[in-house]
Amino acid sequence: MSKSFSPVYTYPTEKTGFFKGERAGSKRVKDIKDVEHSAYGGWWPSFFPTSVGFLVTRNGDTTNVMTIACMSVVNAYPFMVGFPIHVKGKSERGEGTRYSYELLRANPQFTLNVPYIDTTMTKRVLICGSYSGRDGVDKIAKANFTTMPSRHVTPPILNECPLNLECRVHSDIDLGSHHWIIGKVEAVYLDEEMAEGDKQFVWRSLPELIRKEK
Ligand SMILES: Cc1cc2nc3c(=O)[nH]c(=O)nc-3n(C[C@H](O)[C@H](O)[C@H](O)COP(=O)(O)O)c2cc1C
Repeated sequence: MSKSFSPVYTYPTEKTGFFKGERAGSKRVKDIKDVEHSAYGGWWPSFFPTSVGFLVTRNGDTTNVMTIACMSVVNAYPFMVGFPIHVKGKSERGEGTRYSYELLRANPQFTLNVPYIDTTMTKRVLICGSYSGRDGVDKIAKANFTTMPSRHVTPPILNECPLNLECRVHSDIDLGSHHWIIGKVEAVYLDEEMAEGDKQFVWRSLPELIRKEK
């Protein structure tokens, strides 16, 4: 039996059960623990059309952001995401590890921030992937990001990204040059201003989002 497939879902509105009633700034927000009892409807979440995103880490008063090439959903229940981070061997700037990894080791919490595609966002991808926080660069300011405090973790979310995930490190898998970090998602934020226009992206699978109002 085939499943019906529509490549675009309706972005969250008041009628979207998953995000009903809860607002934080311009975002709809949901603690993942509140919805994990519900089935995922057989759809695997994705970050279409981008696997590129922003990792935000924080230790003490130091907050850093770096570009990540391939974020992925790695488990549906409990909801978990993963990404590769360079740890061993010389990187292009000669250092052994990403500064973000040092922050992640000190405080195993992070946010993943999923962008849409436009020129401004592409510049942000390059800025956050070209400078290191180790050199004292405030990449959040340099990339013109603004932040909002997270609910469950100390690293903030990036307001300008339409999808944000608060996570705690579940596993840190040493694969060689890179470690694969798996994070358990604690909360999901969706930008309600993304409901209109050409900035939509598809993130299938939270069933309350897919089973859109008819
Ligand atoms: C498009 C793009 C994707 C990247 N993806 C990754 C990645 O997945 N893992 C990684 O370790 N570095 C990746 N990088 C490199 C880091 O973002 C870059 O080295 C950054 O300056 C590290 O910042 P930090 O030292 O402040 O943590 C990427 C860079 C770009 C431009």
